[in-house]
Amino acid sequence: MELADLQRLNERIAGCHACRLSEGRTQTVPGDGDANAELMFIGEGPGFHEDRQGRPFVGQAGKLLDDLLAGIGLSRAEVFVANVVKCRPPQNRDPQPDEIAACEPYLSEQIAGIRPKLIVPLGRFATQYFIPRATMGRSRGVVAQAGPWLIYPVYHPAAALRQGSLLEVLRDDFARIPQLLAESERPSAAADSAEDDEPRGTQMALL
Ligand code: URA
Repeated sequence: MELADLQRLNERIAGCHACRLSEGRTQTVPGDGDANAELMFIGEGPGFHEDRQGRPFVGQAGKLLDDLLAGIGLSRAEVFVANVVKCRPPQNRDPQPDEIAACEPYLSEQIAGIRPKLIVPLGRFATQYFIPRATMGRSRGVVAQAGPWLIYPVYHPAAALRQGSLLEVLRDDFARIPQLLAESERPSAAADSAEDDEPRGTQMALL
């Protein structure tokens, strides 16, 4: 994706008032990283620190994400990190379905522009963006095809911080990412436009 296109998208996000989350934000958190990354991570939504800094995953969960990335030889600059919703939900509550729907065009534009080889949804909300009825128990660590996109859901780093037993699972799931990247190819630009005709989640097939 051209940097100028990404910047224009970020400006549109910054001016967005499509849902009530815009009322409480300090600033939008569109996402950041390499606009042509092969690997994209999608979290849930900004928290306190993200809302203040305008960058995703800069708090405790972000430190763990950095650490997990370092464990597979990657830095944040080499991947793209975004969220399902671009504004902080009040008191870090779950994003509501209408808020997710209002923000959906931005994430889908980011994905279509970046065209990553592999998308790693972090936690339930990002996973359900692709597989609406997914549970993390069933979906984590399982590679799936969602339209043209290869997805590989893992636990949210914040969940692993709350529940230590998930951390080992998360590390093991991350350890498979380099191999998955090596085995996969970028979807073609034609595949992106084909996706526009398909409602999300209709072409789900477990690999
Ligand atoms: N948790 C998320 O899901 N996203 C962030 O950006 C930070 C924490």
